[in-house]
Amino acid sequence: MKLNIAVLPGDGIGPEVTAQAKKVLKAIAMEFDHKFIFKEALAGAIAIDKSGNPLPDETLKLCKNTDAVLFGAIGDPKFDNDPSAKVRPEQGLLKLRKELGLFANIRPVKAYETLLSKSPLKKSIIEGTDISIYRELTGGIYFGEKRTSEDGNTSSDLCEYSRFEIERIAHLAFKAAQSRKGKVTLVDKANVLESSRLWRKVVTEIALEYPDVSLDFLFVDNAAMQMILNPKQFDVILTENMFGDIISDEASVIGGSIGLLASASVGDKYALFEPIHGSYPQATGKGIANPIASILSAAMLLEHFQLFEEANLIKQGVDKSLKLHITTPDLNSKYSHITTTKVGDFIEDFISNPKDTNLN
Ligand code: IPM
Ligand code: MN
Repeated sequence: MKLNIAVLPGDGIGPEVTAQAKKVLKAIAMEFDHKFIFKEALAGAIAIDKSGNPLPDETLKLCKNTDAVLFGAIGDPKFDNDPSAKVRPEQGLLKLRKELGLFANIRPVKAYETLLSKSPLKKSIIEGTDISIYRELTGGIYFGEKRTSEDGNTSSDLCEYSRFEIERIAHLAFKAAQSRKGKVTLVDKANVLESSRLWRKVVTEIALEYPDVSLDFLFVDNAAMQMILNPKQFDVILTENMFGDIISDEASVIGGSIGLLASASVGDKYALFEPIHGSYPQATGKGIANPIASILSAAMLLEHFQLFEEANLIKQGVDKSLKLHITTPDLNSKYSHITTTKVGDFIEDFISNPKDTNLN
């Protein structure tokens, strides 16, 4: 298969981890006789520094002309600490999601058997957890009207949702549940928010079309508690943009490191794959960033194009690296000399020689 892939490494550790994902994809192309053509472009703080724009026109154009986007990370503390900054790196990613119509962000969360002791949560609580979070990505409070009064003392962000926006992601979530454990949990705040009441109404209607899937509801505050009390109760979680952002970072504690969590952002036409973590500026250039989230995002990219055997090989490589403790310091301080690149090299070698790969 021939795939044109836009690579947007972004800021902080983005370039380091994305380089590993690219390397792994190249190994897959070699093994399976595919042609993957990579084209890099700027986004985020690095793009602001070069052009004043976190999503330059040529970057957007490239993304619209490729089959998929591999995204690194975005963000820089120099903007976080400046509330008056007019242009921010995050705006680049939000604009990209909107322009590409990436309305569904899928974030798988699982407890790896070999990493059960890495989570601060008890083994008995997390063992067997396997959740797929469906986070709405182009609506809600992230994209509603923003206002600040003239005197600068009052601000608001509107949280708005339409039936259409809810329906399209709900269908994806129910379909996903059909091939999983058959359960959707809608996370909302319907006891307080009008927009959440619309979510409940619309999702309840859609559920009738999927009699083989059960639907239940949780308020987001309770869901946050349930996520660490009893995460095994979840199968597919369906939720709006900001709740999904928060709940998925919380859920990453189950896996032992946020550096493991990948995501796929899909729409009707385009698809983008990125780790759920941020740019981790303190780690930039030190070789300590975990590349697995980016590598597993590459596996999700392959699955998107039905290349399941290829994606599975990557996942097996990841499993093996974890089993052999070929991991960055977030997971294994004892072996902290294992760098971002070494993890990538190991998985690359595994793909080229799945049988022979050992600790070297
Ligand atoms: C994420 C990130 C982004 C978000 C930021 C960088 C805008 O936290 O992808 O989860 O809030 O969606
Ligand atoms: Mn986030």
